[in-house]
Amino acid sequence: MADVTDVLDAGERLDADGLRALQLERLRTTLRHAYENVPFYRDSFDKAGLRPEDCRSLADLARFPFTTKADLRDNYPYGMFAVPRDRVRRIHASSGTTGLPTVVGYTENDLSMWSDMVARSIRAAGGRPGDIAHVAYGYGLFTGGLGAHYGAERLGCTVIPASGGMTARQVQLIQDLKPGIIMVTPSYMLTILDEFERQGVDPRHTSLRVGIFGAEPWTEEMRQEIEERFAIDAVDIYGLSEVIGPGVAQECVETKDGLHIWEDHFYPEVVDPLTGEVLPDGEEGELVFTSLTKEAMPVIRYRTRDLTTLMPGTARVFRRMRKITGRSDDLVIVRGVNLFPTQVEEIVLRTPGVAPHFQLRLTREGRLDSLTVRAEARAGATPEIRDAAARSIAAAVKDGIGVSARVEIVEPESLERSVGKIRRIVDLRPR
Ligand code: DLL
Repeated sequence: MADVTDVLDAGERLDADGLRALQLERLRTTLRHAYENVPFYRDSFDKAGLRPEDCRSLADLARFPFTTKADLRDNYPYGMFAVPRDRVRRIHASSGTTGLPTVVGYTENDLSMWSDMVARSIRAAGGRPGDIAHVAYGYGLFTGGLGAHYGAERLGCTVIPASGGMTARQVQLIQDLKPGIIMVTPSYMLTILDEFERQGVDPRHTSLRVGIFGAEPWTEEMRQEIEERFAIDAVDIYGLSEVIGPGVAQECVETKDGLHIWEDHFYPEVVDPLTGEVLPDGEEGELVFTSLTKEAMPVIRYRTRDLTTLMPGTARVFRRMRKITGRSDDLVIVRGVNLFPTQVEEIVLRTPGVAPHFQLRLTREGRLDSLTVRAEARAGATPEIRDAAARSIAAAVKDGIGVSARVEIVEPESLERSVGKIRRIVDLRPR
């Protein structure tokens, strides 16, 4: 691949000292902005006996209080905004499946910074001005569609705003309009894969070169599956609405070694999820973000509940985060054993005869929780292959994760398909 350094933007060209100095200056401005304009932050800093000026080094940030999703809900809908409402150009919101939606807002400058970060992400993934980008993240209150859209336009791509759903049409658009890039959740990419096969079209012979996948956890095994079946490079994009949307961190195509966090705008910390203590780089914990340039809704030490590890930069000066293994909300505890769906994904995708579609079902029998892994057979898998697959998955779950699971190999195309973020866990336990 050609040298990418000639296409980096100014932020990406900073050296480590320049980056730290810029972060500190921006951090101090953000703390002041939050304190002066958001009653919630004023109260929480006051309670901690801190003023924005008390932050004299990046390490001082650890003295400031955390912000949680509950804080955002308590201030629903506009209470966390730091600018008058008429300076807010756009609203997005999280799905709100577990309560009130979380509303986020953007000024004109915020939208511009966001587009810059998504453009930077697409470029790191191997996209270039002039490419055609097919965006199959959902458009609407979800940040995926519009976030990817404006970032691709900012980079100078031709955008196909396909949104999610109508999968037969997705395949037709890919065939006819010949995009080089696709941006979509990895689980919906698998749904699109099924549709290629249903139409008898070889997915290895499309114009697609790069897939930029995120919004949900996915494993190296899934990367391999998608790369092989589509003959593309598959890279990871991370973000969350509270921080901005997609484009907080991005894997570089030349290294595929974790996601570089765009640290000139989003300052990361990893903390012990129980004590809140800041952990040194290299240790796994909960990812926490402080925005450094946001106007409408600055976030100070926002707890993402995502678990990862910070690592030094490679392809860029910015630190990397390891691919997210799971989110504390997705943690399943079965008879005292903790497991994330991604651990089962690794196992299922390594098993011959089963497709990359699976689901975890939790039931209660008497007083004990019970876990069933439902995995789909690949077309043409014989009963013997299915039996062997079931035994091998059960053994790997028992040995690797430490819990006994029932395994059901179900018919091809019988599990629910994703059009956006997939739901891996079906919890049938009585409340
Ligand atoms: O999912 C933003 C996004 C859209 C990211 C498109 C990437 C691509 P939310 O709906 O607020 O925002 O959900 C954020 O999704 O805290 C993670 O738990 C999860 N998530 C996002 N990206 C990844 C990823 C968007 N690459 C929540 N790997 C986050 C694992 C991810 N989990």
